[in-house]
Amino acid sequence: MIGEEKVLFSDTRALFIPSPVIAPRPILLWTVFENYERRMTLVNNAFQCVWKKEFAVGNAKIDEDHKQFFALVEGIRCGSRSANSGRRLIEALNRLISFAREHFAVEEEMMVLKEYPHTESHIRHHAGLMAKLEELRQRCEAGETGVCTEALAFTKSWILRHVLLVDRQFIPWLRDPGQTAPEQNERDRRP
Ligand SMILES: [Fe+2]
Ligand SMILES: [Fe+2]
Repeated sequence: MIGEEKVLFSDTRALFIPSPVIAPRPILLWTVFENYERRMTLVNNAFQCVWKKEFAVGNAKIDEDHKQFFALVEGIRCGSRSANSGRRLIEALNRLISFAREHFAVEEEMMVLKEYPHTESHIRHHAGLMAKLEELRQRCEAGETGVCTEALAFTKSWILRHVLLVDRQFIPWLRDPGQTAPEQNERDRRP
C-alpha cells in the first residue's frame, strides 16, 4: 500500500536507517517503531507546558483561562517513583477535569451567543478531551501504572493543538471590543 510505504519511509528516515534494511525484518521494524515512540514521548514530556503571549486569542477571560489550563496540564507531571504518585495523578486529573468543564462551558456559551458556525465541531473537540481524561482517571484509580506519562503527553499535545488550531479559529468572534488580532499586533510592530 502506497500510504503505508510513505509512513515507513518517513519514520525510518528520522532514525537514519534505510527502509529496505528493516522492512523484511518484522522484529527489527517493531523495535525501531518502539524506540521512535519512546523518543517522541521523552521529547514531548521534556517540553514545559507554559502559556505564551503568542497563544493569545484576544479575549481576556479566555486567555486567562488558557494560562491556568496550561498550568494544570503541567501539574500532571508527577514523580512516577514516589509512593503516592497514583493518588497525586488522580488529584491533578480531578483539578484539570473540573477546570476544563468550566472553561469549555464558557467557550461554548460564547460560541452559541455569537452564532459561531463551527460550534458543533468545537464542542466535539472538548468532549473528546473530557472522555479521555475520564478514561485516564479510571485507569489510574484501577491501579494501572504508567498512566502519568501517557496523561502528560496526551494533554500537552491536546491543549497546544486545541488552543493554536481550534480556539484560534474562533478569534474573530471572541475578540474583546477594541482588541486587534494577535497577528495584526505582530504586523504593527514590524518596521
Ligand atoms: Fe479554550
Ligand atoms: Fe475550545
